[in-house]
Amino acid sequence: MKRNYFAVALLWLSMGYGSAIAQQRSEILLEKDWKFTRADQEAFTNAKYNDSKWQNVTVPHDWAIYGPFSANNDKQHVAIAQDGQKEASEHAGRTGGLPFVGVGWYRNKFKVPAFNKGKKATIIFDGAMSNATVYINGKKVGFWPYGYNTFHFDITEFLEAGQENTLAVRLENFPESSRWYPGAGIYRNVHIVVTEAAHIPVWGTQLTTPVINQEFARVNLKTKLAATGQIADGQFQLSTEIKDASGKVVASAKTPLSKYDQGTFNQEMIVLKPELWDTENPTLYTALSKLYEGKELKDEYSTTFGIRSIEIIPNKGFFLNGKKTQFKGVCLHHDLGPLGTAVNDAGIRRQIRIMKDMGVNAIRTSHNMPAPEFVKACDEMGMMLMAETFDEWKEPKQKNGYHQYFDQWAEKDLVNLIHNYRNNPSVVMWCIGNEVPEQGIVGAAKIAKFLQDICFREDPSRFVTQGMDNPGAVINNNFAATMQVAGFNYRPFAYPEAYKKLPQQIILGTETASTISSRGIYKFPVTRRAMPIYEDLQVSSYDVEHCSWSDLPEDNFIQHDDLPYAIGEFVWTGFDYLGEPTPYYTNWPSHSSLFGIVDLAGIPKDRYYLYRSHWNTNANTLHILPAWNFKDRVGQTTPVFVYTNYPSAELFINGKSQGRKTKDTSFTVYNTGDKKSLEAFDRQKRYRLMWMDTKYEPGTVKVIAYDAKGNAVEEKEIRTAGAPHHLELKADRTKLTADGKDLSFVLVSVVDKDGNLCSEDTREISFKAKGAGKFHAVANGNSASLESFQAPKMKAFSGQLTAIVKADEQAGVVYFEASAKGLKSSVLKIEVTKAGK
Ligand code: GAL
Repeated sequence: MKRNYFAVALLWLSMGYGSAIAQQRSEILLEKDWKFTRADQEAFTNAKYNDSKWQNVTVPHDWAIYGPFSANNDKQHVAIAQDGQKEASEHAGRTGGLPFVGVGWYRNKFKVPAFNKGKKATIIFDGAMSNATVYINGKKVGFWPYGYNTFHFDITEFLEAGQENTLAVRLENFPESSRWYPGAGIYRNVHIVVTEAAHIPVWGTQLTTPVINQEFARVNLKTKLAATGQIADGQFQLSTEIKDASGKVVASAKTPLSKYDQGTFNQEMIVLKPELWDTENPTLYTALSKLYEGKELKDEYSTTFGIRSIEIIPNKGFFLNGKKTQFKGVCLHHDLGPLGTAVNDAGIRRQIRIMKDMGVNAIRTSHNMPAPEFVKACDEMGMMLMAETFDEWKEPKQKNGYHQYFDQWAEKDLVNLIHNYRNNPSVVMWCIGNEVPEQGIVGAAKIAKFLQDICFREDPSRFVTQGMDNPGAVINNNFAATMQVAGFNYRPFAYPEAYKKLPQQIILGTETASTISSRGIYKFPVTRRAMPIYEDLQVSSYDVEHCSWSDLPEDNFIQHDDLPYAIGEFVWTGFDYLGEPTPYYTNWPSHSSLFGIVDLAGIPKDRYYLYRSHWNTNANTLHILPAWNFKDRVGQTTPVFVYTNYPSAELFINGKSQGRKTKDTSFTVYNTGDKKSLEAFDRQKRYRLMWMDTKYEPGTVKVIAYDAKGNAVEEKEIRTAGAPHHLELKADRTKLTADGKDLSFVLVSVVDKDGNLCSEDTREISFKAKGAGKFHAVANGNSASLESFQAPKMKAFSGQLTAIVKADEQAGVVYFEASAKGLKSSVLKIEVTKAGK
């Protein structure tokens, strides 16, 4: 029988848990040969239990993403108070309509060759959803309720040296415990670490860079020692080398531990001419520490870090390395659409790549702790992070929400988050809560202070905020004043009042916009609408629709452009996510969000180009909407919008000029915002070019963009598509690593013979993969589609979908084929190599 002896030296090294170079420390990743069941019996804890009939799964694993969808999965009969609902109603799709509720058991048999008497062993779960009870060899090891957090247990006493060990994990998800799809199962990685008795414990280092200038950076490294018995002065020494990105040693220190050090080595090192980490050049360094007892090497541990400064100056803003930097941020839930919540590096990196191309420089991991792979990718790709914790404190939003655990677990959960990520340069801020009902309770500011003080205690080097959506209360009851950074969700019209009353003299848009749109769907007439409901369960991609509490992108751009104390925003949301199909609360089969700037399949909606035109200052954007393929609109008013960074443009329909438009900078935050101005799209006129009276006729829509000096600098054309002809395939990556995990995301489009997108086509497309990879999953971004994410076929939505191909462990070539009735099929070649990338 195959076992899980995966020496993951490199992975481990890069995850920041410590290195696997020394024999003194070894790591195993428990990935393969897990057994899984949805049954629930006490006997499953028993090492001898025969689980051979259970399902074979690989971890990370999300048991619920395989469906089937049903209105009865976690149907919630509630009134959503935060959304202003007074009466309870049936919310079927609120948590995604997938079967995550209930119990699941996982078992894994493993050996730990490096473990013997005198050694220490620790098990680390990056995250397990949820209420994890962990057993080894029939004995209970521990319990951790919060599904989003990383937790670890000392399992030294539970392991059998040289023998097979049995790990059993019971998980249980309760109904009405979430406001979105939480996923289910051991959806993140599981590690076993073996060390000497004297070692550096999990998250045992804390690295800060208290002084940074052009000449040098002072690096302070605090390293905990875990050892048994009395420790004599000088018995242990720590030798640390700092290496730059090329592996060159740039600083070092050797430090004995004295009895006054209280078990923590304190090392100061100087890096000359440091290369700073920022979002353009995310330079990383590594501190490699060796622990010695006398001359004997006991442990090696590596800490990846960046050298960068962060500062908030009242009335001026947020500064990264001394440079004023607005947060051009998005909120992201943790699911990866059709992949569910199961962590996948390729999926995570694709999300970050797409966001970066849009100009995003920061992500808020709403409303909980991110996966280690996510933080690592942000470190390496140059993305700032606001790492979040809780959607509830003591007051419930959900019957079975986190409030039940808060008293006993909040501090432990917060400490684990901070210890896990306090050396990661991408993390610039901790977020201690989201729209907690405590906002309205006099005296509850004490809880905010309690949590914020934990952050300061564990990591004085980062900012602390929370997302508040009750400005009326919090600016008058100390709640907002308590926060180091006052973070507001929505209601930007309340920023001036908050600024006037609060001491911080800075406002952060922790959550903004919640504009809603469906990719490729256009509604008429084009007017601003709150909470629109349409029969097709979609909303308009003209980007004029929002929720009753929310607004449009420009309603926020204008705040952060015009108010010197507004330091940027985190838009709800970068990608669509499973669950929360607002405004279709009660309209099954609607079951995934419409908030995303990018849809659930990872395909940009029109709105993507609006943000890109404003945020991505390194690239030009020139995007025309709507798709020019209407069957029944000839002669009817069909506005054309252009999203561009250029100040003006002229529009032509079938060669006939529709006039030139210029962004109207006379609109400011001070002279807009009343109902009339909002309805007249005044703010939009400053950021988008809109021809409101154009009439539809099939043919060509062309735009010529002009720069500030009036030179014609770029043009773009879209055409009415002819008859659907073939399938066009475009992969995000055509070279994959042969690791059985790497993914290629293939955009499949129905096009006419000239390659024009047939944006109204909804035919079913089927997939086949041959060779060194497999078809893995598919999504089309239609929030009302109940088609399986795993079946190798799906209907196109607005002419497109994304199919996902997974690499095998063997190198070779994958031929991926997409076919559909009435169309020429297409084949795409993907290379799978051991080296990858
Ligand atoms: C906010 C909340 C988010 C999401 C969003 C939708 O109030 O923090 O989790 O529900 O509204 O607009």
